[in-house]
Amino acid sequence: MFNGKSILVTGGTGSFGKKFIQTILEKYQPNRLIVFSRDELKQYEMAQTFNQPCMRYFIGDVRDEDRLTMAMQGVEYVVHAAALKHVPVCEYNPFEAVKTNILGGQNIVKAALKNKVKKVVTLSTDKAVSPANLYGATKLAMEKVILAANAYAGSQDTHFSMVRYGNVVGSRGSVIPFFSKLAAQGEKSFPITDDRMTRFWITLEQGVDTVFKAFERGVGGEIFIPKIPSMKMTDLVKAYGDDKKYHVIGIRPGEKLHESLISEDDSRLVKDLGDLYVILPLYQHSSKTGGVYDKYPGVDEKFFYRSDINKDWLTVKQLKDIISGL
Ligand SMILES: NC(=O)c1ccc[n+]([C@@H]2O[C@H](COP(=O)([O-])OP(=O)(O)OC[C@H]3O[C@@H](n4cnc5c(N)ncnc54)[C@H](OP(=O)(O)O)[C@@H]3O)[C@@H](O)[C@H]2O)c1
Repeated sequence: MFNGKSILVTGGTGSFGKKFIQTILEKYQPNRLIVFSRDELKQYEMAQTFNQPCMRYFIGDVRDEDRLTMAMQGVEYVVHAAALKHVPVCEYNPFEAVKTNILGGQNIVKAALKNKVKKVVTLSTDKAVSPANLYGATKLAMEKVILAANAYAGSQDTHFSMVRYGNVVGSRGSVIPFFSKLAAQGEKSFPITDDRMTRFWITLEQGVDTVFKAFERGVGGEIFIPKIPSMKMTDLVKAYGDDKKYHVIGIRPGEKLHESLISEDDSRLVKDLGDLYVILPLYQHSSKTGGVYDKYPGVDEKFFYRSDINKDWLTVKQLKDIISGL
């Protein structure tokens, strides 16, 4: 679907963006593949590897609607991945989190509508479900802003969908790079915040794959959620070797013991697509889904999708393989 098309990726120099762009270049021959982000050094470094004739590097900030409008000229598909995503950073700089994550989302909507973009797929997080911190709250607001844009689009052929998933294995600033650094320094005991803690985990490849599915299947208004495994933080420590122990440092502000990808309140809107769940729009005005998902089964009204009650768990051996493969 991307052959001969122009695609813009906000946050194209980030962990997700680079993997998405690499995958597009392997599978398709796009007309233009535009990286949209702020830092010229990250773009310069990326351009050393990704230097195909279709590649374009645009400096810009998602807070700047004019720049986004200019960048989206002639663009058919947009992936919106740019965000401030570190919980303590958002908490300490709340105005900045609101500007990038919420107003940035609003600017994506305006620029996409002005340019008659065909499809916009935006990335969200499990932290947006019943949020316990500002990062999650800004992503929840962003989800609402983006999905409601289907109503602003009216009869115009522009469709907005969402992909929501959990922690990306090995992403910048996350626990595996941190533990790996400690292991390399010869530390024998790793700090964990609570020995009951569980998380959903997804690889970058699975994240990218879900975004492709959202482009293929999305008609506007959906939140697509991949079915992914959970892991116990204590198992992650074990995966570093029998000689490794942990010490509990206490749960941090804004942190949850377990994360949710779907809350019980949303269960009546959920359809099971086999490999994915989809949450259909709460309000018909932001829906372009019509009867598209009628043929798929729903879920029990008491269903919720939380990391501690998941049926699928990563074993210590699988975690070991993940760590050594990074
Ligand atoms: N990593 C995870 O565990 C995880 C889990 C669930 C969901 N997500 C979501 O997935 C998305 C991508 O995450 P990631 O791990 O790829 O993040 P990342 O590696 O930190 O990359 C963020 C990207 O956004 C750009 N950016 C930040 N602020 C911007 C702004 N104001 N204007 C334009 N570009 C901006 C950054 O480049 P510059 O700094 O140069 O602008 C960078 O390219 C985010 O929306 C995140 O919320 C991530």
